Amino acid sequence: MAWANTSTSAALRETTLRKLQVDLPVAVDRAGSVPLVTQVGDQLRAAMRGGQLTAGSRLPSSRSLADLLGVSRTVVTEAYQQLYAEGWLEGKHGSGTYVAEVYPHVHAEGGHRSEAADDVHTPLEGEDPETGLIDLRPGRPWVLNYDDAAWRRAWRAAGDLPMSARPDLYGDPLLRDALAAHLRRARAVPAGPGDVLITRGTGNGLDLLAATLLKPGDKVGVEEPGYRAARWIFAGRGAEIVPCPVDADGVIVDDLPGDLRMIYTTPAHQFPTGGRLPIPRRERLLAWARATGALVVEDDYDAEFRYDVAPLPALYGLDPEHVVLLGTLSKSLSPDVGVGWLVANPPLLDRVARRRKELADRTSGPVQRAVAIMLDRGDLDRHLRRMRLEYARRREAVVAALGPWTKGDTAGLHVLAELPEHVVPEIVAGARERGVLVDTTIRHHHGPPRVHGLVVGYGSAALHDVRRGCGIVRTLLDHALQEPELLPGAGHL
Ligand SMILES: Cc1ncc(COP(=O)(O)O)c(C=O)c1O
Repeated sequence: MAWANTSTSAALRETTLRKLQVDLPVAVDRAGSVPLVTQVGDQLRAAMRGGQLTAGSRLPSSRSLADLLGVSRTVVTEAYQQLYAEGWLEGKHGSGTYVAEVYPHVHAEGGHRSEAADDVHTPLEGEDPETGLIDLRPGRPWVLNYDDAAWRRAWRAAGDLPMSARPDLYGDPLLRDALAAHLRRARAVPAGPGDVLITRGTGNGLDLLAATLLKPGDKVGVEEPGYRAARWIFAGRGAEIVPCPVDADGVIVDDLPGDLRMIYTTPAHQFPTGGRLPIPRRERLLAWARATGALVVEDDYDAEFRYDVAPLPALYGLDPEHVVLLGTLSKSLSPDVGVGWLVANPPLLDRVARRRKELADRTSGPVQRAVAIMLDRGDLDRHLRRMRLEYARRREAVVAALGPWTKGDTAGLHVLAELPEHVVPEIVAGARERGVLVDTTIRHHHGPPRVHGLVVGYGSAALHDVRRGCGIVRTLLDHALQEPELLPGAGHL
């Protein structure tokens, strides 16, 4: 292998690079089996990822670099085009090719660790922590631009309130009040504070419900594919999990069995396929619940984040006797806060509260009071409005890159890209090699996978990383899906 002076004198290379003010660690190996375009592209990418080429650096013109490397200009042009498509490079009109603005965490190899890197690389399922990767896995919100002044103000005000020696099992009255008002306003939920129990999040709410209502062997329906934490929690309380298939609109109601004790569903934005349960289906679901005596457990997941039309009102409002509503601040603020809510008719709520006492379970009082203050002051609403704009932009970037394959409503923090089964492992592995983490639909199934593809989350990656990561995925997809019969259109949803 020879460095960029393969066919040029070292002196000329020195002069050219000095003029360009960049030191390019690029070499070509003509004898190797890797195409020259790939060699050039891979090395530039590695230099940008590794921090040797930083945001704003100007790259040589394709002609100069081609001369330096002793390759044809087409080789460099194609390599640049690829890097443009992936979002690594940007052109400034009339003035050349530059390394695109890079979020600090991609320079982690250079020794600089940002807060974002620490957050993004929380190990998942036993993986080693990794640095310098674009994390497009779902389930993580953006926690870097909340209004920290408002957050501190809320904590100071909460600190002025007295501590309780007997925490309320239903939750802090201040928060129950504030939350009921919020739910009436934002979700058309006809609830007063007496219908609300404050939890530590949706998972905690599911567990309290399961502990209150389930007997070993009871059958619990869970959307398929669906939220696996829900399956784990119900199974952990002895339930038999019954997978209930979904289509593009959400759970397929007409196929539901008649012997379920409860069914867990995400009607606002199905996780992970992204459909919104239409009104007629909501009505059929409630008719089914009344006829069979099953309880509908409504996870109001992602209802805060719709980017086109207003969200449909919560199912709970249509039938508080047969529906329990669960919500959380995990996506709208952070899972770190550990606050959620369970809304149910008062007799059921009383049973849950009694069971909660037996389990010695509660939510932190000071946290609840701080959240109540944020709600009362409108800080949470402001944060949501800001985040909606940010997430909408990121979602657009995903759809722009992966458009033909994407499914689901204009909502939430993730997009499903439905793909032929056999290409999925190759895309995931290829993306990972290029520094991008994506999730697949497989682990969201209880039984054999019936929906195949990628679940692309844009909660925890900045817009330019979303663009770049999706650009990389798209390139891999185009490559993997060259045969025409594999083009979109033949999927399940
Ligand atoms: C479908 C769904 N519901 C709820 C949650 C949040 O649960 P919790 O409030 O327990 O953090 C998640 C988190 O990823 C989710 O994917």
